[in-house]
Amino acid sequence: MGFKLYSFAGFSFYLFVGLTLHLQVLEFCSAGTTSSYVRKYNYDIDMPLDSDVFRVPPGYNAPQQVHITQGDSEGRGVIVSWITADEPGSNIVLYWPENSKHIFRADGIVLTYKYYNYTSGFIHHCTVEDLEYDTKYNYEVGIGNTTRQFWFVTPPKVGPDVPYTFGLIGDLGQTFDSNTTVAHYQLNPAKGQTVLYVGDLSYADDYPYHNNIRWDTWGRFTERSAAYQPWIWTAGNHEIDFSPNIGEPKPFKPYTHRYFVPYRPSDSTSPLWYSIKRASAHIIVMSSYSGYGKYTPQYKWFTSELSRVNRNETPWLIVLMHCPMYNSYETHYMEGETMRVMYEKWLVEYKVDVVFAGHVHSYERSERVSNIRYNIVNKRCTPTKDESAPVYITIGDGGNLEGLATKMTEPQPEYSAYREASFGHGIFDVKNRTHAHFSWHRNQDGVAIEADSVWLHNRYWKTMAEPSIAVS
Ligand SMILES: *[C@@H]1O[C@H](CO)[C@@H](O)[C@H](O)[C@H]1NC(C)=O
Ligand SMILES: *[C@@H]1O[C@H](CO)[C@@H](O)[C@H](O)[C@H]1NC(C)=O
Ligand SMILES: *[C@@H]1O[C@H](CO)[C@@H](O)[C@H](O)[C@H]1NC(C)=O
Ligand SMILES: *[C@@H]1O[C@H](CO)[C@@H](O)[C@H](O)[C@H]1NC(C)=O
Ligand SMILES: [Fe+2]
Repeated sequence: MGFKLYSFAGFSFYLFVGLTLHLQVLEFCSAGTTSSYVRKYNYDIDMPLDSDVFRVPPGYNAPQQVHITQGDSEGRGVIVSWITADEPGSNIVLYWPENSKHIFRADGIVLTYKYYNYTSGFIHHCTVEDLEYDTKYNYEVGIGNTTRQFWFVTPPKVGPDVPYTFGLIGDLGQTFDSNTTVAHYQLNPAKGQTVLYVGDLSYADDYPYHNNIRWDTWGRFTERSAAYQPWIWTAGNHEIDFSPNIGEPKPFKPYTHRYFVPYRPSDSTSPLWYSIKRASAHIIVMSSYSGYGKYTPQYKWFTSELSRVNRNETPWLIVLMHCPMYNSYETHYMEGETMRVMYEKWLVEYKVDVVFAGHVHSYERSERVSNIRYNIVNKRCTPTKDESAPVYITIGDGGNLEGLATKMTEPQPEYSAYREASFGHGIFDVKNRTHAHFSWHRNQDGVAIEADSVWLHNRYWKTMAEPSIAVS
């Protein structure tokens, strides 16, 4: 037990550790809101290795770390991944619609990797295809020795008015706070159907020699959600695992072996950038840590991908990247500038609805602004209101061991609509082609409480009558 010093709004005071104190003070600046909500004391340490959430499932060679993601471009495919510890075992997934006796099977692959002195278990990836839309499927893995069953629900057929609810989680890690974030997300009555994950998964690289055992514990911890609904993966800096001093010079090795994504269906040449369509959304995933300058593979892919987006079919255009382009915290301040300079004009021209990022361990939402008029001599380098611009949301507040980013640049810039240093998750709830609702849920609140929220009006489909811009 002890005392901890908190300071906010110019005051400093002591909170007795262990005491639950909830104070909510809102300061209204000329611009947006800086909330100085004071969190109760929380641990920023990883859950110990013998925690319940890290338990290895019983049985010889039992599949563990089961997780699914979308397996094709339209949502009729699912990639099922799992790890077996004792032997390769079977690569087969058995699956069947909930109300059917007919059992289908798909065959996958198995691989392993080494990292310094760590050797992975047998990592299985199996793509299940040609599923019916909007259907609950049961599936079974570990055929032969110890089987385990799970289920998932396929999305409705892609179309402009298909309602769908996405969860937003970033920078999760594996602390007690991370566990609260997942529990909170799962209990949210908004019922997220798919997680858009904005990067930085296990934080294993914060351990000596990037102890990859912490990739395994993370896989077991997140299974309770990721085995039942797709998590759409984005690579963050903690996925790079670049460590030539211990003989590991190949970036993204653990991440790309463990987390497969459907990059080939979107004509990408790398799992680090790709896109999917799901329900009424077209989701583009980018890599903040791969080449993105002009002429690079990512740049070429991204710019041609934008022209493939059909807003008549998927009115909602969402971009995920790890490092935010608009961030008014001191942590990682301006790290997203190079990416912004390269890509912001594209996001505005194509009326991207929302850009979700992580990296900064806090929450922030922007106004619709752009900063694309600068040409090196004209001095026009301040963000200005722009109805064509996306809303930028930083949701790197999953609760990892590095703790919260609490220091903010002052004064709050005008483009920043709301910012708060608390752990939580987001919900992006698409209602129809014109309306979507975003809400942010901090961990300390009741599960239904929206600590911040905003309606997003689709700029392509301003009215049901006709599209407001011609994209394509
Ligand atoms: C890997 O090396 C580290 C540092 O030498 C050591 O602490 C650890 O026990 C080793 N792990 C294995 C699996 O050999
Ligand atoms: C696991 O299954 C394989 C193939 O069916 C079998 O040969 C092996 O004996 C089993 N191992 C155990 C421990 O049951
Ligand atoms: C993690 O959260 C789950 C769900 O609330 C709970 O059952 C479990 O005991 C928690 N584990 C730890 C280590 O806090
Ligand atoms: C779209 O959803 C919004 C919010 O729920 C609702 O107000 C609006 O009437 C809906 N539009 C149509 C055409 O149903
Ligand atoms: Fe990060």
